[in-house]
Amino acid sequence: MIVDSTAQGSTLITGIGELVTNDGDRGGFAAMTDAALVIAEGNVAWTGPASRAPAADAVVDAAGRAVLPGFADSHAHLVFAGERSAEFAARMAGRPYRAGGILVTVEATRGASDAVLRANLRRLAAEMLRQGTTTFECKSGYGLTVPDEARGLALAAEVTAEVTYLGAHVVPPEFAADPAGYVDLVCGPMLDACAPSARWVDVFCEDGAFGADEAAAILAAGRAAGLLARVHANQLGPGPGARVAAEAGAASADHCTFLTDADLDALVSAQVVATLLPGAEFGTRQPFPDARRLLDAGATVALATDCNPGSSFTSSMPFCVALAVREMGMTTEEAVWAATAGGARALRRTDIGHLGAGARADLILLDAPSHAYLAYRPGVPQVAAVWQAGRLVAGRVT
Ligand code: NIG
Ligand code: FE
Repeated sequence: MIVDSTAQGSTLITGIGELVTNDGDRGGFAAMTDAALVIAEGNVAWTGPASRAPAADAVVDAAGRAVLPGFADSHAHLVFAGERSAEFAARMAGRPYRAGGILVTVEATRGASDAVLRANLRRLAAEMLRQGTTTFECKSGYGLTVPDEARGLALAAEVTAEVTYLGAHVVPPEFAADPAGYVDLVCGPMLDACAPSARWVDVFCEDGAFGADEAAAILAAGRAAGLLARVHANQLGPGPGARVAAEAGAASADHCTFLTDADLDALVSAQVVATLLPGAEFGTRQPFPDARRLLDAGATVALATDCNPGSSFTSSMPFCVALAVREMGMTTEEAVWAATAGGARALRRTDIGHLGAGARADLILLDAPSHAYLAYRPGVPQVAAVWQAGRLVAGRVT
């Protein structure tokens, strides 16, 4: 029988070859074989052996395929116009990546209508959903004026609850001679205009963007306005970002490509999630971050796409999982956990990233018997169907 799951009736998904639940006692990856799962009222109502599954209003036969929690992509820059494929091609021909490329997109974004920005944002959000991302974070950061940042966040809030104010992406050209004046704007009138639409504040703490003191001031101002902190840290070289994130009590330090042992200790002791963004290293031909080192030190690791038109124009969490396994020393279990439960931790969410009873029924049916296929068959579309809060929102179950 082929059915849709509705909020009204319960749905039993049975015949699951591997059910990744991430609900084990030890908090890491957890899965069971020959399993079933019941969805009711948008949540997971039951998981267990298929042989003991309770009755439900509708039944889906997974036919031995794997079911995973939907991906939680905790880092994306989706409000922008234009593209930078020529810059990418030049990098692949040997040019270095520079933060200054951001300004090309700022110019295009400022010049775009709301309708153009909204259409681009919705296209990318739909692309993510088809690839199994059921929660994503979305930053501003390509407006860099009070009205442009405020409209970016208002647009982001139309498509996700995880909205991040990134007025501190780079200093825009009109403030080139007065970076301190721009920081005052970011901490003052721009924050006032943006805070109502946002949950998070972020800062690009890097040479060519914002320094430690500026970043700390911006995060403190954001916190005073009710926003929670996250930081772009240690992407292009060693620097203060990870330390700033730890001192600010940030939920996450993102990139973490160049960490000293002291940075690592700071992240672990402040329980800051290290969010790794391998699409950015792929797109800038930089060394990949050492996930193994972070995990062995006891850090919580998340994986996210960093989807943006400059450094990482991928919306694909399966691609990031494959890179993390092949290039960053993660096991397939660790990478899938980081892309689901890790992203949830980075967003301080307990309702997603796992499929324990009571979790939101955000889940993926793979056209494959186990989670390992995400890395084993890189580049192959394997997400057969996607449920969000119990509703079949992409793909099909047969
Ligand atoms: O996360 N690091 C800063 N921001 C983006 C790059 C944005 C761009 O190049 O347009 C990033 O990689
Ligand atoms: Fe980013």
